[in-house]
Amino acid sequence: MEQKLRVGILGATGMVGQRFISLLEDHPWFEVVTVAASPRSAGKTYEEAVGGRWKMTTPMPEAVKNLAVLNVNEVEKVAATVDFVFSAVDMTKDEIKAIEEAYAKTETPVVSNNSAHRWTPDVPMVVPEINVEHFGIIDAQKKRLGTTRGFIAVKPNCSIQSYTPCLAAWKEFGPKEVVATTYQAISGAGKTFQDWPEMVENIIPYIGGEEEKSEQEPLRVLGTVGEDAIIKADAPKITCQCIRVPVLNGHTAAVFVNFEKKPTKEQLIEKLLSFKGFPQEAELPSAPKQFIQYREECDRPQVKMDVDYENGMGVTIGRLREDSMFDFKFVGLSHNTVRGAAGGAVLCAEALTAKGYIAKK
Ligand SMILES: NC(=O)c1ccc[n+]([C@@H]2O[C@H](COP(=O)([O-])OP(=O)(O)OC[C@H]3O[C@@H](n4cnc5c(N)ncnc54)[C@H](OP(=O)(O)O)[C@@H]3O)[C@@H](O)[C@H]2O)c1
Repeated sequence: MEQKLRVGILGATGMVGQRFISLLEDHPWFEVVTVAASPRSAGKTYEEAVGGRWKMTTPMPEAVKNLAVLNVNEVEKVAATVDFVFSAVDMTKDEIKAIEEAYAKTETPVVSNNSAHRWTPDVPMVVPEINVEHFGIIDAQKKRLGTTRGFIAVKPNCSIQSYTPCLAAWKEFGPKEVVATTYQAISGAGKTFQDWPEMVENIIPYIGGEEEKSEQEPLRVLGTVGEDAIIKADAPKITCQCIRVPVLNGHTAAVFVNFEKKPTKEQLIEKLLSFKGFPQEAELPSAPKQFIQYREECDRPQVKMDVDYENGMGVTIGRLREDSMFDFKFVGLSHNTVRGAAGGAVLCAEALTAKGYIAKK
């Protein structure tokens, strides 16, 4: 790309915002020029505003340390400085809906990590390897918003990334019933063990709103593009329990599945290994070369060994075997703040850029 696109990060001081800052350091297409957060941080330098809250294991990039933090709510002022924004603010759902639409209406594309617009009928919710064609609904959205280049695109919840890619890879066998239990890392709540000591040696069997997202969002991702709305798939039926476990990064899922046409184990593994999509074909900068890896060892995937597979952008599957009640069962793992949050959004933005939806203003 001749000239990098100018990027703003809404919620730049938070956990996901920091992950965006880290992932975008030296990005070949995008340059972070604007950081925005709450009025509490506005006016400070990024370094001052984050203070002791830097949660990444790599140091804060020099290029952002002295950027002045803007107020997310000053939409026109922020929008004037950028070609598009990533959104990772923590506000109420209604506030997020309104502010993301306000940005889109300034002709600034919004690629969001938030859940607020995931069920807005004409907002695409995309895992680029699975349903990049859903970006086609953006034309209808722009018509509704009255914009020419402004729109909102979102990525799905972090919990679904450990099993939904398998359901997509196995589409031709007709997955019809899925029972999943997720074992979710504390960084998914924006926390480390320092600020959530109660999680050390503990398990909490409740994550607000997570089970509904884990059951419903895969159906939207596996859905089709209608005239002015994404049409949700009607299969598989998914039931899910979501459990918080004492792990810093990495959501694991233990999954049972029934198929319309029962395949062999070898067929299932072959489909996982050959599954690829637009990011691989277009060689997008953040695309994992091999999206899904299958580990034959009986004790994989393991968080410590596999969470950073393909720089946190790949998915690891293991323990695929026949079951006595269901056709098959398996275990999946993905990085919740990389593939499941900021990294997934960066890949969406790369796909949107490659397809011409995001360009210089
Ligand atoms: N953590 C994850 O893995 C994950 C995964 C998927 C989705 N999410 C979602 O992503 C969003 C951000 O999560 P997070 O973990 O990064 O949260 P976080 O660490 O609490 O950060 C929140 C960010 O939003 C800003 N903010 C808070 N209140 C605001 C207000 N009233 N007006 C403007 N900005 C405000 C904060 O600015 P200040 O620093 O100035 O307060 C900060 O930059 C949430 O909606 C969360 O549900 C998180």
